[in-house]
Amino acid sequence: MQTSQIPNPDPLYDIIILGASGFTGKYVVKEALKFLNTPSSPLKTLALAGRSREKLTKTLQWAAHPSSPPPDVSVIIADTTEPASLSSLCNQTKLLLNCVGPYRIHGEPVVSACASSGCDYLDITGEPEFMEKIEAKYHEKAVQAGSLIVSACGFDSIPAEMGVMFNTRQWEAPAVPNHVTAYVSLESDKKIVGNFATYESAVLGVANMGKLQELRRSRPRKPRPVIPGPPPPKGSTIEYQDQIGLRTVKLPSADAVIVRRTLVTLMENPCGLPGINESPEHTQKREAYWSSVKPAHFGVKIASKTLLGIYRIIGVGIFVGVLSRFSFGRWLLLKFPSFFSFGWFRKMGPTDEEVRSASFKMWFVGYGFSDSSLASERNSKPDMEIITRVTGPEIGYVTTPISLIQCALIVLSNRENLPKGGVYTPGIVFGPDLQEGLQENGISFDLVSKTALRGPTTA
Ligand SMILES: NC(=O)c1ccc[n+]([C@@H]2O[C@H](COP(=O)([O-])OP(=O)(O)OC[C@H]3O[C@@H](n4cnc5c(N)ncnc54)[C@H](OP(=O)(O)O)[C@@H]3O)[C@@H](O)[C@H]2O)c1
Repeated sequence: MQTSQIPNPDPLYDIIILGASGFTGKYVVKEALKFLNTPSSPLKTLALAGRSREKLTKTLQWAAHPSSPPPDVSVIIADTTEPASLSSLCNQTKLLLNCVGPYRIHGEPVVSACASSGCDYLDITGEPEFMEKIEAKYHEKAVQAGSLIVSACGFDSIPAEMGVMFNTRQWEAPAVPNHVTAYVSLESDKKIVGNFATYESAVLGVANMGKLQELRRSRPRKPRPVIPGPPPPKGSTIEYQDQIGLRTVKLPSADAVIVRRTLVTLMENPCGLPGINESPEHTQKREAYWSSVKPAHFGVKIASKTLLGIYRIIGVGIFVGVLSRFSFGRWLLLKFPSFFSFGWFRKMGPTDEEVRSASFKMWFVGYGFSDSSLASERNSKPDMEIITRVTGPEIGYVTTPISLIQCALIVLSNRENLPKGGVYTPGIVFGPDLQEGLQENGISFDLVSKTALRGPTTA
């Protein structure tokens, strides 16, 4: 186990991207180059890290194309199985962006090195067990070292976190939300494809579900946010959502878990998390932002135009749910990803064209009360509906890099206004500052409708 080091007061790089040669890593490099040394950008120095110098050099050429690679971007050799190489990375940078997954296999040594050195860390995992484990093991250490550790800064779970906050902020007093459901719709003229590592992360996550339950049982129970009104009805497994005209089914994604963790942290810190050396303007901005966010029950469903699309999603869920429980089943799933995912995941990942042609819409359908006093009435039912929407480009290799780099730019430009250190969810750290950067880079937030339902009713 590593001991705490004295943080390097003047690291060589603003950002090091670890796992830069990976499928997602190379798109993260491409996104980072857009901001490297541009006039108002805080990103002045960048390095790429990984196991192979040759692959990293090729990545840089690919990401810079059609320009030639910037001469001042360094390449550093590091391996997650060699702690000394990770400590050396942490000593050379203010912020490490970790794109090496599955995180349950590779993530912990990287977090441990950052929490020991005081360098900041962001990643793009969507693996709840990894996130909850590092929170349990490294939060205190990271607070002491002044290392800000934030997972899930990709499509998991930035659109969900920012989207649910955007929705709950539309409920103006005395109105209050009760529950918000996000419906994710993936669209493309070509095939929608993800890279193997994301599928592998999901298979291993389902296979180790028992460990997540065990971890949760071993930790003290956190109080639940107080949400006005009764919990929402369970509803049917497959639902036709009239408002968006799509069929939907529950998606066991990390988003709901992350949003819940953000709301719990918010309940413990109703004005959000104060910065280390926060400016009075930022304090005001943070307090105004968090006072307008309201807790609500939250769930995620995936949407499809056709019933066949829904049956295919359920089919993949059944394959992964059943086969991942035993080792031969896992071998089959991982050996034939395309077959068991009906072509949604490929060992080679999507082509550039498939990435370019894809996009997503995430609808947030919120139900609540036009007056908070109605929520406490016996058998009360929501009498108000607010629908908002987040839209953006392809999820894994365009929206994920945009989200990660926007979070990274906030860390670089706004560090004094962020908490000193600790393991947190992205919403609670970046909430007040992130939406604008996302909007400027192709991710939109829209209010679709506010509707009074048939007046306050009682069952
Ligand atoms: N949140 C989201 O929405 C989202 C979106 C996309 C991806 N992801 C996650 O991101 C992760 C990466 O996905 P990917 O498709 O980019 O995977 P990938 O193509 O397999 O890339 C993995 C990268 O990690 C590097 N690596 C592997 N083992 C290493 C080690 N021991 N030390 C140092 N580097 C090592 C690889 O380096 P080599 O080149 O040397 O093999 C490669 O650069 C996955 O966990 C995936 O689930 C999340």
